[in-house]
Amino acid sequence: MIGSVTTRTTRPAVREDCLVLPVYAGSRRLGREAARLDRAHTGAGALLVADTTFKAGRGETRTASIKRGGRLVHVVAVGLGDPARVNAEELADAGGAAGRALVALGARSAAIALDDARASAPSLGAGVIAHALTKGLALSLYSYAVEAAHPTRLRRLVLVADAPAQELGDAVRRARLVVGLIERVRDWVNTPANRLGTVGFATEACALLKSHGVECRSWGRREIARAGMGAVLAVADGSRQEPRLVFAHHRLADRTLPLVCLVGKGVTFDSGGISIKPWEKMHEMKSDMAGGASVVAAVAAAAARKLPVRVVGLVPCVENMPGGAAFRPGDVLTVHSGKTIEVLTTDAEGRLILADVVSYARARYQPDVIVDMATLTGGVVIALGTRVAGMMGTSSRDLDDLREAGARSGEPVWPLPMDDYFFASVKGEISDYKNYAGRGGSPITGGALIGAFAGKTPWVHIDIAGTSWNERGGPSYQSPGATGYGVDLLVRYLEIVAQRGRRKHE
Ligand code: BES
Ligand code: ZN
Ligand code: MN
Repeated sequence: MIGSVTTRTTRPAVREDCLVLPVYAGSRRLGREAARLDRAHTGAGALLVADTTFKAGRGETRTASIKRGGRLVHVVAVGLGDPARVNAEELADAGGAAGRALVALGARSAAIALDDARASAPSLGAGVIAHALTKGLALSLYSYAVEAAHPTRLRRLVLVADAPAQELGDAVRRARLVVGLIERVRDWVNTPANRLGTVGFATEACALLKSHGVECRSWGRREIARAGMGAVLAVADGSRQEPRLVFAHHRLADRTLPLVCLVGKGVTFDSGGISIKPWEKMHEMKSDMAGGASVVAAVAAAAARKLPVRVVGLVPCVENMPGGAAFRPGDVLTVHSGKTIEVLTTDAEGRLILADVVSYARARYQPDVIVDMATLTGGVVIALGTRVAGMMGTSSRDLDDLREAGARSGEPVWPLPMDDYFFASVKGEISDYKNYAGRGGSPITGGALIGAFAGKTPWVHIDIAGTSWNERGGPSYQSPGATGYGVDLLVRYLEIVAQRGRRKHE
């Protein structure tokens, strides 16, 4: 993380040792304010941009370094691509490219000129542009190593623009908060399962939540059993690690506000259990608590931003292992609602624990909506790849709101179908339900088992199995491993719900 990110309104001096100049494709020259800053700095930016080999495609960079007063100062021109098509995701990518250029130059401080970025894409607004560029740039500095993280030399980032100071300041404050939380999520997801198990994750989650003023507690095996969550217990049985259920409450007592339940899959390691996975990619299953981590971060952000919406975060933390006490294929589990689920594969464990917790959320809180986020299926990676998450549910308004939140955050989600046909597919032969309905449409049938326990409560399921992990080759603001996808998405969604206010029950 950068030490400080501040804003200032335009003035013709750059005290930082690098000036970053965002340029749209086809513009070939700097905007008025950027040109002023460039002249006051080195004047090299105008030359970089005039070079016809620089096309200003998204993320394309050109750098120049010039000796000033016995030290090097730098200029980075970064392409933003086509101004007619640019969006939050692409701006973050361009910001990430600039960040990588700054690291390569060894810059300690940088100023970004934002004015012409705004002039060329006025539809986005200064705040959106400032947020996306800052988020991408700051996230590109992240890297994970088991022992102490690599320090970055970049200490200070200043956004220079003649935009309203308040809009700019708020965008940058929000970006700093979200980036800090995404970094925490990445750390948790990247941390090997022998170093962050169920109890450790629950403890760290509560500590983070409390540091943001969120009321947080967690249940152990005994309380989970007392609540009748037979699936959470069953999945936990094969591991020596105790299950936890983390509760996070934001403004729960404010009864005039809408109430959102966020439920996150917190499987700290998924070996597959008795239906054990092949070894090749099994190590990546330390990331199977990414949904839970994003839910924790989103509740923390809601509190930090004082959002006028009630939020309950629920994260079941379990490890799916094939120990001597493990649950087995063929077992029939009784979950919180009293319904039964036959286990056809112990590797479809996410839907089991989420069915339990969604059922509990609905009965205990009677929320306006339940949104669950989970690394649920390999099938969603096949269907949508690693850039876009799959989503489905029973509430068209919340599906729309999440689509919008995806666009605003640059963390896109795309709808898959959900209807009674899919709910029927998870009906069981010897029990109420079964946890596997064949390979066809597996992200949807997986979601259907969860949604069956939301009953009439509006519900949306987001499958982040593809988007939560970057093998390599992702956008420039990601490093290999955890992406932190889902945090900004959920926060944008909560902002939309908060703005809409209390909904009437149909
Ligand atoms: N955690 C996995 C899903 C997953 C796969 C996450 C790839 C990230 C990357 C989940 O618990 C799982 O094992 N799903 C199975 C279910 C199947 C056995 C019905 C799957 O999708 O293959
Ligand atoms: Zn899993
Ligand atoms: Mn599994």
